[in-house]
Amino acid sequence: MAGAIAVEGIGKHFRRYRERPSTLKERMFLWRSNAEDFWALRDVSVEVPEGTTLGLIGPNGSGKTTLLKCIAGILRPNEGSITTRGRIASLLALGAGFHPELTGRENVYLNASILGLSRQETDRRFDDIVGFAELPDFIDTQVKFYSSGMYVRLGFAVAVHVDPAILLIDEVLAVGDIAFQFKCLDKIAEFQREGRTIVFVTHAPDLVARLCDDTLLLNHGQVVARGEPRAVVRDFRLLMAREDLAYGWDQGSREVEIVSAELFGPDGGAVAVFSPGDVVTIQLDLRAPAPVEDPVVSFAIYDEQNQFVFGTNTDWQGVRWPRFEGKHRVQFVLRHLPFVGGRYYVTLGVHSRDSRHVYHLQEQRYVFDVVKGDENPGLVHIPVEVRAERL
Ligand SMILES: Nc1ncnc2c1ncn2[C@@H]1O[C@H](COP(=O)(O)OP(=O)(O)OP(=O)(O)O)[C@@H](O)[C@H]1O
Ligand SMILES: [Mg+2]
Repeated sequence: MAGAIAVEGIGKHFRRYRERPSTLKERMFLWRSNAEDFWALRDVSVEVPEGTTLGLIGPNGSGKTTLLKCIAGILRPNEGSITTRGRIASLLALGAGFHPELTGRENVYLNASILGLSRQETDRRFDDIVGFAELPDFIDTQVKFYSSGMYVRLGFAVAVHVDPAILLIDEVLAVGDIAFQFKCLDKIAEFQREGRTIVFVTHAPDLVARLCDDTLLLNHGQVVARGEPRAVVRDFRLLMAREDLAYGWDQGSREVEIVSAELFGPDGGAVAVFSPGDVVTIQLDLRAPAPVEDPVVSFAIYDEQNQFVFGTNTDWQGVRWPRFEGKHRVQFVLRHLPFVGGRYYVTLGVHSRDSRHVYHLQEQRYVFDVVKGDENPGLVHIPVEVRAERL
């Protein structure tokens, strides 16, 4: 397989200013000492074979966007080299590449021409682009009036209709609603079948495991793991746990917001270590500034291999709010923890009943451990009552 992207030992440094000097004297004498160069990327090498999908994960500030920008040719690395083959379409940041004063239509033509399409080629694709973005009523509106979701829809629609050999996507899909996300994922699957090359930044481990052939984990600008997606996601989790980093995988419109959430053990205290068979309570404090019709609160538990092990929601449990407004507390009481050991990750969500609208989703933000006891061999904990009588 030929390499679509070859990144060889690249490094990119930026200048960081500690404190902004204010007086002229300070500016003259301190400016230099207040500035320091740091490497946002260092010694990064990666070969992406044609037709593969590479997932790029890592904590905030680890260099993911910088690497994508270097591949896209928007940033020039200070050392090392990058070669790419074929047209690159990228969806890097919200609205990047869009001119706010121009209309959606004008931006489509502008973007397509930057990507090397002629006016006639764009004419031919225009209806598909607008149709995909679902923006017919807004296409002649200046994009500065677009919502962030509309920006992403148009950006994604242009990127996937210019016939790119390489598609670079920086965590922007989370902005659209669920229906649009599904459409984008379908398009990505189509691109994969057509043998196009994709580099995909995401914080959602599910997506990495589902979509990517290969995954790269960055930390402090360096490659710390590379390979099979599930294994690299596991390394990522360990890294986050070790460095006690926040996941920051929130998404949603916040029409209903998860203000706080806690896990309680059998004695009521908030803990993160449980024993098999424990009663565990997942408690969410929610707030809706304005009335929301029929929201559903759900949780899901994943294990270290990123397997979905259990989940349920208020709807299935028969709890409904025709009109949800103000502050609410919701508790899910798990009567017997069936796990016998290991680390688990909890995703919490509030969404519409048909799941098309996500109000707030916190993906795998909460972590708990189950201690393995000698009295619990095997795979699951089953509460057992012993009855014995002499006959
Ligand atoms: N133009 C710039 N000037 C100075 N520093 C920058 C610039 N762009 C990025 N950085 C810094 O480089 C580091 C890597 O940033 P980058 O945006 O690549 O991280 P990331 O992995 O995409 O993070 P996130 O998950 O938050 O999107 C950060 O410390 C960031 O502050
Ligand atoms: Mg980024």
